[in-house]
Amino acid sequence: MPDWEPDDVFHKKTNGVYNGVLFVKEALENAGIGPFGKEVVTSRHPKMREVERSLRRPNMPEGIIKTQLPLIISEGRPSFLFITFSEPDIHVPRHMHPDDAITRVIMSGSITLEGVELTMGDWAYVPNTVPYSYTAGPYGAVILHIYNCGGGDDDRAFDHWKVHAFPGGGLTVLKGPLKSEVPLEWFSVPPVRDSPKNETPLKGPPPSPKRRS
Ligand SMILES: [Fe+2]
Repeated sequence: MPDWEPDDVFHKKTNGVYNGVLFVKEALENAGIGPFGKEVVTSRHPKMREVERSLRRPNMPEGIIKTQLPLIISEGRPSFLFITFSEPDIHVPRHMHPDDAITRVIMSGSITLEGVELTMGDWAYVPNTVPYSYTAGPYGAVILHIYNCGGGDDDRAFDHWKVHAFPGGGLTVLKGPLKSEVPLEWFSVPPVRDSPKNETPLKGPPPSPKRRS
């Protein structure tokens, strides 16, 4: 058993709606703000600290604070944004996310992820099902995380338009009515799947034997 398991409840559904969406809705409603859409909104909105407190994620390794941002990306299978603040040298034990590919951008400080040091402005893409761990550097780290960047059964069942970059070494577009406003021609990298029946499940490259455990 790993020392720690991530809490991915935000991408499970309650009554057909992703919990991550419900968390945001509830936090904004409880703070009595929104809906937004006609104005610039920042984290310095007088009620936003209250919203952030509501959206703080439990079950994080000691020394890491993780807060969901009150923003939802996409009308289909949603992507969720999180910021983490890690104290120096905090280790996130090896784990994986079965349904989430995750993109991360290092905003300050540093981490070492799978033996690679990433500092401010660096980014990392971790496909779903691929185990990983990381350790914050000597000055800690502030990281932006984008969850649900493709991956998982929901993409086949529901969110057919999601574009997958990187898994399998290429770019894949799932069959289905495309809702993206980005023309497919912009993505010229094969392979493009045309039939879910013939597809090979997307799993990134197998873990290298050289990786540290
Ligand atoms: Fe994770």
